[in-house]
Amino acid sequence: MAKKIAVLPGDGIGPEVTGEAVKVLERLRQDFGLNIEMEAAPVGGTAYDLHRHPLPEATLSLARQADAVLLGAVGGLQYDTLPRELRPERALLGLRAELQLFANLRPAILYPQLASASSLKPEIVAGLDLLIVRELTGDIYFGEPRGVRTLANGEREGYNTMKYAEHEVERVARVAFDAARKRSKKLCSVEKANVLETSGLWREVVVRVAKDYADVELSHMYVDNAAMQLVRAPKQFDVIVTGNIFGDILSDEAAMLTGSIGMLPSASLDTRNKGMYEPIHGSAPDIAGKGIANPLATILSVAMMLRYTLNEAGLAERVEQAVSKVLDQGLRTGDIYTENTKKVGTKAMGDAVVQAL
Ligand code: IPM
Ligand code: MG
Repeated sequence: MAKKIAVLPGDGIGPEVTGEAVKVLERLRQDFGLNIEMEAAPVGGTAYDLHRHPLPEATLSLARQADAVLLGAVGGLQYDTLPRELRPERALLGLRAELQLFANLRPAILYPQLASASSLKPEIVAGLDLLIVRELTGDIYFGEPRGVRTLANGEREGYNTMKYAEHEVERVARVAFDAARKRSKKLCSVEKANVLETSGLWREVVVRVAKDYADVELSHMYVDNAAMQLVRAPKQFDVIVTGNIFGDILSDEAAMLTGSIGMLPSASLDTRNKGMYEPIHGSAPDIAGKGIANPLATILSVAMMLRYTLNEAGLAERVEQAVSKVLDQGLRTGDIYTENTKKVGTKAMGDAVVQAL
């Protein structure tokens, strides 16, 4: 039976980059026997404009029925004044929560061809290949109580709640240990146990889970130190497991080590490897509609989809090699452009990848 893929292009550069990723999927369907059907639906600000809600019921139910979701990006300046529950970002958080996508895999790989695009010295980042496993459905992002209240003196106070139940830590820790096992068997758990109770419990649970993974070397690091170590000596890391907010911040930092956030894919998985796949870069309103966005992060997200949800490791590799090939050819979108390379737009980059397949 054909596997169903929900395509949610979203806002800003989302439609442009997903358009190229869909071309890649379409080619795999036509010429490489990939048995899929795709259906698109609006999400984020685009959905708000059409249906007055960033995650309309029809979009959510399409995502629920699908085996995998391909998401572009959500968000735009014109939506920033909407009430929080109607903002585009709510769609993303809603999909993560509703589909129980608790494990967010964010690989940061430096393509040798792009070593000079990184703001760090080549010797610091050459060969970089790390994986951040970010917990995605808990923490201060979802913790109750939350809100803005008025104090007795009339002053307003905002508050959110950081919390993690043991089972939430345990399941994401297992995903991270499993991933580490398939790589260089090193896992670093990042938290702030010197200050936060939530982090103390996080560490306790991770240590407990580690007993089932004697072959994986576990270390612990406070998040402030981890932020520093990532730019000082990033190659000391292999797999990092961390909570939702720390993972949000560290994954942007890790992305920049690789030269451009425009290169980084992600997978968000539930317990049965149903997944949502998206570039981590966001909607980039400043360059939306100009045809210059880098589609490679979304195309690499398709590779992750092939690997984790569609069980097509061979095709995943084919896509990754095609990306590597176009970089070898010297093709670069503006974000990864350096001297003596060839600047191309979104479509030309997508076409080149399809060609290289
Ligand atoms: C990300 C994004 C989202 C997050 C925003 C858009 C809600 O920054 O996926 O990292 O904070 O998780
Ligand atoms: Mg983020």
